[in-house]
Amino acid sequence: MCGIFGCLCEGAPSILLQGLKRLEYRGYDSVGIALINGKDLVVEKNKGKIDEFISGLDEARLKGEIGVGHTRWATHGAPSKENAHPHLDCSKRIAVVHNGVLENFLQIKEELVRRGHTFSSRTDSEVIPHLIEEYMNEGLTLKDALIKSMERVKGSAAIAVISTVEPNKIFCYRRESPLIVGIGDNGVFCASDIPAIMPYTRRVMVVPEDRLVILERGSIHVEDLKGVTYETEFTEITWDLELAEKGGYPHFMIKEIFEQPRAIRDTLKIPTVFLDKAARLMRGRIYLIGSGTSYHACLSTSYTASALIDMEMRPVISSEFADALLSLEDSTVIAVSQSGETADTLNAVKHAKSKGARIVGITNTLGSSITTLSDAYICTQSGPEIGVAATKTFLTQLVALDLLLLRLGLISGKLSEPEHDLITKELSNLPGMVEQILSRSNRVKDLALKYSTKENAFFLGRGANVATALEGALKLKEISYIHAEGYPAGESKHGPISLVEPNFLCVFIAPRDRTRDRIIGNIMEMKARGAEVFSVITEGDKELKEISDEYFEVPISSEILYPILCTVPLQLLAYYAATFRGFDPDKPRNLAKSVTVL
Ligand code: M6R
Repeated sequence: MCGIFGCLCEGAPSILLQGLKRLEYRGYDSVGIALINGKDLVVEKNKGKIDEFISGLDEARLKGEIGVGHTRWATHGAPSKENAHPHLDCSKRIAVVHNGVLENFLQIKEELVRRGHTFSSRTDSEVIPHLIEEYMNEGLTLKDALIKSMERVKGSAAIAVISTVEPNKIFCYRRESPLIVGIGDNGVFCASDIPAIMPYTRRVMVVPEDRLVILERGSIHVEDLKGVTYETEFTEITWDLELAEKGGYPHFMIKEIFEQPRAIRDTLKIPTVFLDKAARLMRGRIYLIGSGTSYHACLSTSYTASALIDMEMRPVISSEFADALLSLEDSTVIAVSQSGETADTLNAVKHAKSKGARIVGITNTLGSSITTLSDAYICTQSGPEIGVAATKTFLTQLVALDLLLLRLGLISGKLSEPEHDLITKELSNLPGMVEQILSRSNRVKDLALKYSTKENAFFLGRGANVATALEGALKLKEISYIHAEGYPAGESKHGPISLVEPNFLCVFIAPRDRTRDRIIGNIMEMKARGAEVFSVITEGDKELKEISDEYFEVPISSEILYPILCTVPLQLLAYYAATFRGFDPDKPRNLAKSVTVL
């Protein structure tokens, strides 16, 4: 996920920078702009956050009334000045900013290099200006060369292109990635989302899929790749800016919960080459380490590894790793961290490395400290997560780890190809299943209202869903301040049950998996003591519906998907409970998004 912005107006340099600032939530590892100043293309870009970038700019150089800019969240190529957008062609006449992922860029890049093009970055995006240049060298106009290029590249792309060849236009194109254009009294604009252009105009159009849009002073022209022209249909934006930045949602957390189908879809596309590199390192003793929610992903995966590929992987909380005095000779440590900067996990990784362990990093932040310390890394594709509570990054960690187990199973011979393919197919159904759960979020909202006056809750599960229970309890306590404990359901009778009295809330994670029948026993134990039982169950499970006071159904799936599916209603429960209790779920007290102290 990246942010793109373009404008054709007076004062373009400062408007570009302001627009990019509003898009920083979409990516903040590098930033860049290009402006047309007479016959020249002025380009400034660098690694780092936008404020650092602005303070290092020579403003006297920034002139012009047409410009494009980009905030980057790295997918191909680590954060660096070279990999920052805009990217240029060889003759430095064409500047392109891109948001998306090009699937066939390697093949195109090889061809272009053979034809004499010189690349300066490791990004997929840089093929676009070179491809346009190549077609222009064959005699096509800029517009036709752009159309041909977009027909040639596969994958997602929202782009904005400026060129000294046609210095009065911005060419935009959209496929899958979002793109908005707008027209105001003082100029025309394009951006990845509405808030970026709202201070300049409220007359906007969401660019339809597969359309080319040409911005000129006072006009916006829309056509498809075959040259058929379409009428521009503007909408007048009436929301306020703060709401718009959250895509219309009241908080980042709920926006991010609803982004999960997209985040999973993108994570399912992690190239096999990254997974295989990591899988080939996984020999000897295998440890899974992480903190907080990331540790829960480790715990869940340890169960999946035994069940799916009969391999033992030991989950360890990062802050306990060094003190556990584990044997690290011939070992592999899989370090899981959304930010890639958590001090406890970094410390554990450094300790493991010093003892000779191989490191596989799984983060959502390419270029973070953990990726640089790892022998192989896998980048989850959640996009930036702003809410302090980890939601979409947890689900994508589980998906990435499942994909890794599948490749490891195949490579080690623990899984046959048909078995591997079958589970891969099941994973591909996940986004749709999560969408289905989200479409019933109001049911959880009602329950959250009912439970929002509780002061205590147990979250209980068995097997991999012990991790789901821990995660559900962590979410509820950290943002709603209801005291919640996650426990293995079978262990609850060894002490915690003494707290249960009439109306004590017990949330059971009880899908139809190998643990279901024993969970029923645990539910009965709690009910016998007057507990109020809310169960997350598999669609159509009559028996569980009857014995639970309230229930939420998740779609029928294979066992390994249940920890992912059952987490979603628990995230919603925590979110709505926090809001009913009057707390800001995005900024829970005493917590930070990235915990960089030991
Ligand atoms: O960035 P990391 O995944 O390493 O962060 C680890 C924990 O601090 C984090 O998962 C924390 O528990 C969540 N924000 C809780 O929702």
